[in-house]
Amino acid sequence: MLLSQLLHVHGIDSVVLERKTKDYVLGRIRAGVLEQVFVDLMAQAGVADRLHAEGFEHNGTLIAYEDDSFRVDFRAQTGTPVVVYGQTEVTRDLYAAREAAGGNLIFNTEDVAIHGAETDAPYVTFTVDGQEQRIDADFVAGCDGFHGISRQTIPLNIRREYEKIYPFGWLGILSETPPVHHELIYASSARGFALCSMRNENLSRYYIQCSLSDSPEDWTDAAFWTELKRRIPAQFADSLVTGPSVEKSIAPLRSFVTEPMRWGRLFLCGDAAHIVPPTGAKGLNTAASDVHYLLNALRDYYENGSDQGIDAYSQNALARIWKAERFSWWFTSLLHRFPYQSEFDLKMQRAEIDFLRSNDAAQKAMAENYVGLPY
Ligand code: DHB
Repeated sequence: MLLSQLLHVHGIDSVVLERKTKDYVLGRIRAGVLEQVFVDLMAQAGVADRLHAEGFEHNGTLIAYEDDSFRVDFRAQTGTPVVVYGQTEVTRDLYAAREAAGGNLIFNTEDVAIHGAETDAPYVTFTVDGQEQRIDADFVAGCDGFHGISRQTIPLNIRREYEKIYPFGWLGILSETPPVHHELIYASSARGFALCSMRNENLSRYYIQCSLSDSPEDWTDAAFWTELKRRIPAQFADSLVTGPSVEKSIAPLRSFVTEPMRWGRLFLCGDAAHIVPPTGAKGLNTAASDVHYLLNALRDYYENGSDQGIDAYSQNALARIWKAERFSWWFTSLLHRFPYQSEFDLKMQRAEIDFLRSNDAAQKAMAENYVGLPY
């Protein structure tokens, strides 16, 4: 949706195919922390008014371990905050803008297939309401997520995949309660990781590391709150306002990258090409950085008649992706409890947290990555 809107702003037509309904997409709870470069892209797309009015700038975050915590000051370290604004709201704003501009969005598409990606005349076939349709295009942007067909379209002898599966998941809840703190709290404890986040003054998002064999029904709201309180410093546990969950789900954690991100006239964007564990809040932001590189590549093609941007897309996008992969892997490894962790491993984790607490250069490196590396 963001790519489509940006292309529109630059005079380039697109058609968006969506497998689900609009209501389904707008009913999902997704990420909530936007890098400043992402906010700037939204402004370039002409869809940042509500984001500017309703998003919350966060100038830092707390990192907690057992009953201690310290703050990393993003603003002091980098000059830049992050913005808390739900991905669902980003999508809502983009739908509104595309619809107002008469954009071509097709929902409920099934059996999507990409043809001729390695030729100069690619096309996409799909069915809607049982009717087969075909769209001929100059290019295809595969923005269809980890389980989509775009990545699978690239032959196996060309595609190389890199993956790490983490031995735990995140159980997340949304509750209509005031956030326990005005900034996020990333907490490491002997019982596992916990994260306190929010959407607004009366909507909180909390996560706890859980077993991969758990299902959301195993966790009553009361059990969730009890476990969360055990994992965050007592001062926050004591003031935590609990209430009924309005959403509860479990997500597995994975690091994944596919190379290359381009095959002929097919470009992969976002989760279709890469996944990060959620600890660094990079999932949505890495998708946005792909959009930035692809937009510029396509503009170079249409405005200057040059293939240079297109030829460099995969390399440019991946250079930034791998750094976000590294940060997400590092921050996940720092704060979670792993099965079979030795006493030595635990001491290393603790020493690294102590180093981050006491070392300005380490905090600067963390902050630069968290607020988002420059495009
Ligand atoms: C949220 C999710 C994350 O993965 C994260 O690192 C920070 C915040 C959230 O949903 O609010």
